[in-house]
Amino acid sequence: MNKIMMTLAISALGLVIGACGKQEEQSVQSPPPAPTAQLEVPAAAAPEPMADALETVVEEAEVMIEEVSEMVDETVESVAEQAEAVKQAVAEQTDQAVEGAVEKAAAVQQAAVAKVQDTAKMGEAVVADATQAAKTTVAQVAEKVTSTAAVTTTALSQEDALNLANRSGCLACHQVDKKVVGPAWADVAARYRGDASVRDKLVAKVSAGGKGNWTDVTGGVPMPPYSPRVADADIEKLVDFILSL
Ligand code: HEC
Repeated sequence: MNKIMMTLAISALGLVIGACGKQEEQSVQSPPPAPTAQLEVPAAAAPEPMADALETVVEEAEVMIEEVSEMVDETVESVAEQAEAVKQAVAEQTDQAVEGAVEKAAAVQQAAVAKVQDTAKMGEAVVADATQAAKTTVAQVAEKVTSTAAVTTTALSQEDALNLANRSGCLACHQVDKKVVGPAWADVAARYRGDASVRDKLVAKVSAGGKGNWTDVTGGVPMPPYSPRVADADIEKLVDFILSL
């Protein structure tokens, strides 16, 4: 809008100046009327209206110049305003971009920290597991050493064991290497080798008697009960001896 008005104003100014120039030209070029008697034109008559016209033109031109300069001022102002707005928008966008980048960097840093912490936790868990496993192994080994020591201290020599078995009446039905009525004790040991829970079961079986575990060997003959005829401690010693074969 301003542009159009300015263009119009400038072209109007051009016209005025052009017209003005022509008039001046005329005034310069047209020779002063010959002072003849016939043409009694008063000498001052011509210049006066010309001067008025010139004055008007100059006034109008001044007004126009003022208007144009105002428009120019306005335009310059609005251009400056627009430039300021653009500058601000760019600055805002830059700020936002910087902010976004900073936020992203912070998020990445946080994620990295979390990962490091997770890894550390996992490491701790692994160490704890390993420690626990090592402790368990040590405890198991210690237990085994203790029980082995116990067995060793209560175990009888083969001769003493066989004497005890004989006194207890076992050898009527058992031998170490041969099936008699009951299974060979070496076969009993071989069947249960590695089964830690079997000792108590066998002690109970010898105490209470029973059948069913060796039917294929014995044809289903039961073993008689030995408690309380044989002391519990002796039954335990006999079972330990049998399992050690
Ligand atoms: C009258 C015969 C007889 C006498 C005496 C006897 N046993 Fe037995 N024994 C058997 C028979 C039969 C079996 C098989 C039982 C079965 O099939 O479960 C057996 C099984 C056993 C077993 C294995 C049990 C199982 O469940 O695998 C042991 C251990 C055993 N005898 C120890 C002894 C001891 C120790 C004595 C002496 C205190 C003894 N026996 C005396 C007949 C006898």
